[in-house]
Amino acid sequence: MCGIVGVVGNRNATDILMQGLEKLEYRGYDSAGIFVTTGQKNSLVKSVGRIADLHSKLALDIAGSTGIGHTRWATHGKPTVDNAHPHRSQTERFVLVHNGVIENYLQMKEDYLSGHDFKGQTDTEIAVHLIGKFVEEEGMEVFDAFKKALDIIEGSYAFALIDAEDADVIYVAKNKSPLLIGLGDGYNMVCSDAMAMIRETNQFMEIHDKELVIVKKDSVQVQDYDGNILERGAYTAELDLSDIGKGTYPFYMLKEIDEQPTVMRKLISTYADQDGSMKVDGDIIKAVQEADRIYILAAGTSYNAGFASKNMLEALTDTPVELGVASEWGYHMPLLSKKPLFILLTQSGETADSRQVLVKANEMGIPSLTITNVPGSTLSREATYTMLLHAGPEIAVASTKAYTAQVAALAFLAKAVGEANGKKEAIDFDLVHELSIVAQSIEATLSEKDAIAEKVQNLLSTTRNAFYIGRGNDYYVTIEAALKLKEISYIQCEGFAAGELKHGTISLIEDGTPVIALISANEVTAAHTRGNIAEVVSRGAHILTIVEEDLARDGDDIIVNQVHPYLSSISMVIPTQLIAYYASLQRDLDVDKPRNLAKAVTVE
Ligand code: M6R
Repeated sequence: MCGIVGVVGNRNATDILMQGLEKLEYRGYDSAGIFVTTGQKNSLVKSVGRIADLHSKLALDIAGSTGIGHTRWATHGKPTVDNAHPHRSQTERFVLVHNGVIENYLQMKEDYLSGHDFKGQTDTEIAVHLIGKFVEEEGMEVFDAFKKALDIIEGSYAFALIDAEDADVIYVAKNKSPLLIGLGDGYNMVCSDAMAMIRETNQFMEIHDKELVIVKKDSVQVQDYDGNILERGAYTAELDLSDIGKGTYPFYMLKEIDEQPTVMRKLISTYADQDGSMKVDGDIIKAVQEADRIYILAAGTSYNAGFASKNMLEALTDTPVELGVASEWGYHMPLLSKKPLFILLTQSGETADSRQVLVKANEMGIPSLTITNVPGSTLSREATYTMLLHAGPEIAVASTKAYTAQVAALAFLAKAVGEANGKKEAIDFDLVHELSIVAQSIEATLSEKDAIAEKVQNLLSTTRNAFYIGRGNDYYVTIEAALKLKEISYIQCEGFAAGELKHGTISLIEDGTPVIALISANEVTAAHTRGNIAEVVSRGAHILTIVEEDLARDGDDIIVNQVHPYLSSISMVIPTQLIAYYASLQRDLDVDKPRNLAKAVTVE
């Protein structure tokens, strides 16, 4: 949520900031701004809307080799030019960008800043006024003033601060919100995500919570809040510029949907040897074996992927699996089993709600495993163990390939643990072969895009609401399918256990209500779901069926190639991703950047 960039050194700051913001636009896109300085001439440009809107406001003479920039997802204050970052202090000497939420900003305003004029309503503006006050009204050195402000500020933040009277430095600090330093030759950079600066460098330095960094063109000094200098090496970000481009695709979401067969094969080569034996870290297997219960904590699509994997995990590991909504569990932890293992499932590895659970787990001494797509992410660093998804950067706000990669990664974990336990069912489950079949099934569904687009046009073009129904694993998939449709088409949609509909919700079915039914894996429940379809049809619903081939009947709409029942959540979700994509496209919406949302949700 919100993207930060900064650069100091011998380069064209405007160019570096703008290309960085374009890469970070997925983090927030309601307004944006940059501040650039030559040391003599300062330029601040802000705009409501997308980075393209900011671009159109940039005059040719906006130049300098030091600058900071920001793309915003509003928390405090509406998306307006005044609320857009960067923000300036009272005299405009200090300029600040911020990602996070300052919880005590109103108190800070009351305690320290009477007589100050504020242009907007943001917490960030208070913070930069406070720093300015400490320097200009109390005579403090800039660094000390920054530190003093950090001691007062409560909440989450990644800050990049410039003193316009000393344009050779960017002051940086972080607590709970992500921030990295990018290392160049004669210039250094600041960014929320390595993607922003991968055009400039692949060398990055991590910043941990409650650390301050003084970034100059040829040096980077990291300190803790007690003033101790910390040694910190660089790491190489394994990202390719082509990974983060759209290529010939109109939208990232479509590209990412199409990448799923490749992701499945990548996971096979990562987590299995040529002979099919598992390559899952032995310590992780042991941690699962020692647990008497697995708790999967996650948000949104990742939570849904956890649900979609629950039955398989329980069947193969013989360990009960409980799901938890991260935003709830961070503060309302239920009674736990005696030997819990927490699995944090998170594409970005930065989700604040999930992180809050991990913080609690660490305080309680509970072992944890983060399964994430982003190596080096906060949740990966702070958990006991990490398993990577290897899905490649996911940029569309609507998560697709991360979901299927999560289910597949959990399948490798489940099989590896089951085998280590000597469980016959796990030993007999030929995951490499079965996942290859899943990759083929996905490809077959992807080849039906035009037909799916047409069915979506007929069913969803004008509706305000819709239902997904299914049983067993299909029910879990319906929850994800409904989230995807809501998120990018703005159709109100609910994923429902097919048998539960008649216990109340069926009253919402009326003439023309779209109901999409998922049927896979099990003949008995398939027959029951067919019965539930008949019930809604007789009340006027318009039905679309997504059915595995062995259970298909004449008249079914989308046929999905048969896969192993443990993995059907992967193959069954693909048509629903396409349904959401086409519904959004046909309604002329921004598929990749739906309203009110951002990709990495780094505030609680
Ligand atoms: O990065 P995470 O997997 O932790 O993100 C969790 C959710 O914010 C995310 O899955 C969200 O629900 C997606 N935008 C849905 O498509």
